[in-house]
Amino acid sequence: MPLYLIIWIHLVAAITLIGGLIYLHLVLRPVLLPHASETESNEILRKTTQRFRTVTWMSLITLILTGAFTMLSEGGSARIETMWGVVLMLKLFLFAVAFALVLIHDFVIDPYAASTQSSMNAQSAKNNQRRAALVQQAILVLTLIILLVATYLTTM
Ligand code: HEM
Repeated sequence: MPLYLIIWIHLVAAITLIGGLIYLHLVLRPVLLPHASETESNEILRKTTQRFRTVTWMSLITLILTGAFTMLSEGGSARIETMWGVVLMLKLFLFAVAFALVLIHDFVIDPYAASTQSSMNAQSAKNNQRRAALVQQAILVLTLIILLVATYLTTM
């Protein structure tokens, strides 16, 4: 597959991940928050974030595969040993932190699983959702910083 198509897929995955996180925080949450006590709005949020979990994992896997392919195509080049390589490593480090946060969000906090909700009282379910929202915000900020570092890379 030509490199430009791989980079296109890389960009689509990044847009899907970051765009989805922005939609969740700037549109969906603010609309549903005033109705947080209503079962229906909780259910919408739970189902939406559960669906977005699949989209997140597909985007992350796509980013890793297409990013690795792009990196390998640079492999033998001397570029990797220059400042460009250092900035790329910074980007990969930030990505590893974001990835760890997604793991914590999905498998430790696990905010919207029906089983988690039913086994908790209302207050601890609320606290759990608040914790999850904070981690989601941290992931969003990190991915925006990664995007900044990535665009800086293209100018080097
Ligand atoms: C949230 C995660 C990520 C975002 C937002 C992101 C974003 C971007 C963007 C915007 C570009 C510029 C494409 C271009 O115009 O040439 C890029 C390039 C690249 N990305 Fe990513 N990326 C992410 C994750 C990754 C990962 C996990 C890897 C490695 C496994 C990776 C490796 C690369 C490489 C090697 C390039 C080419 C850089 C260059 O030629 O200057 N990226 N990325």
